[in-house]
Amino acid sequence: MNIGLTDRWFLGDVEIPGRLVLAPMAGVSVQAFRRQGRRYGAGLVCSEMVSVAGIQHRNERTLGYLRVSADEHPLAIQIFGSDPVAMAEAARMVEAAGADIVDMNFGCPVKKVTKTGAGASLLDDPAQACRLVEAVATATPLPVSVKMRRGVANGSRTCLDVGPLLVEAGAASLTLHPRSAKQMYTGTADHALTAELVSLVDVPVIASGDITSRARAQSVLATTGATAVMVGRAAQGNPWALAEIMGEDREPSREEVVAELLLFMRETVRELGEQRATGFLKKFYGWYLGGGRFPRPFKQELVQLPAIAEVEQRLLAAAPGARFIYERLAAEVPDPEDEILLDQLPISIYGGG
Ligand SMILES: Cc1cc2nc3c(=O)[nH]c(=O)nc-3n(C[C@H](O)[C@H](O)[C@H](O)COP(=O)(O)O)c2cc1C
Repeated sequence: MNIGLTDRWFLGDVEIPGRLVLAPMAGVSVQAFRRQGRRYGAGLVCSEMVSVAGIQHRNERTLGYLRVSADEHPLAIQIFGSDPVAMAEAARMVEAAGADIVDMNFGCPVKKVTKTGAGASLLDDPAQACRLVEAVATATPLPVSVKMRRGVANGSRTCLDVGPLLVEAGAASLTLHPRSAKQMYTGTADHALTAELVSLVDVPVIASGDITSRARAQSVLATTGATAVMVGRAAQGNPWALAEIMGEDREPSREEVVAELLLFMRETVRELGEQRATGFLKKFYGWYLGGGRFPRPFKQELVQLPAIAEVEQRLLAAAPGARFIYERLAAEVPDPEDEILLDQLPISIYGGG
């Protein structure tokens, strides 16, 4: 099967230069991750979910605020909430921050979110879900997309009832992660449902869930008729998975892995500040260095180190040749100059979808 992933397509009036989309992932999809995803072939990147609770002065425990840079586009910023007025206002803020697409989260399965009437719980309240889409689509000229699960309960097919209603209410695209909210991330994504959804709506559908290779991406595109595939966990610490899906199958050397990690660390420190980046980065060490690339104790050693400078030293000692690759990369990927801070919408610590 040789399905091309480089075809252009349109989400509303936004041209997307390829059929691979980088998934929104809370606690992962920082700007460094999104920019890296673009470099490795993603045609569209998404922010992690930001909460409209900031507008309503509710006390949202936050991981900080989004920074948007000029070289991320096309970019979708994902919002979540349950109040149409606040969602509409958030959409206008997202537009002002330079997003190309407003994405709405109807998939987060985490109790702290669903109990407020947001995230996946909206799939059980189609009228309210449609009110939210309508409010957002009316508030902004940007195309509005919705990302959802198959439903709340195991085996649910709710997405097939709700999806067409959301399109009627103004959604220009639907992303389906066909697991139930109850399943969280267990079991498998049932893309037979994605195929059914595609047949029911006349907007692009993006297939999310368990896309880990080019072969899998091509088979999901072929069997579902989806316009694009979305990749999440496979890209964590592994941008080469994106390149493989786009058709460039090449195992990175240890030096390349370390160089890319060093760049990610530099960008993350700039974005989050040294203190927050220190904790944030720990999970990435395992993701980058795992999979047989480096011995397991090496990762454990890095996680124990108190300062990022020490981690950098250890990485360079383990792969000295990485320095030259890193310097070249760092020159090619300069710090963004004209960032916009979306400082009224906190990034939620309770992510998912
Ligand atoms: C750590 C993590 C955080 C996530 N956060 C979000 C989120 O903020 N918004 C969202 O719509 N989906 C979120 N998701 C779901 C992913 O976007 C994606 O739909 C799901 O992981 C299935 O795709 P995958 O098998 O390629 O990972 C998250 C997933 C993970 C693993």
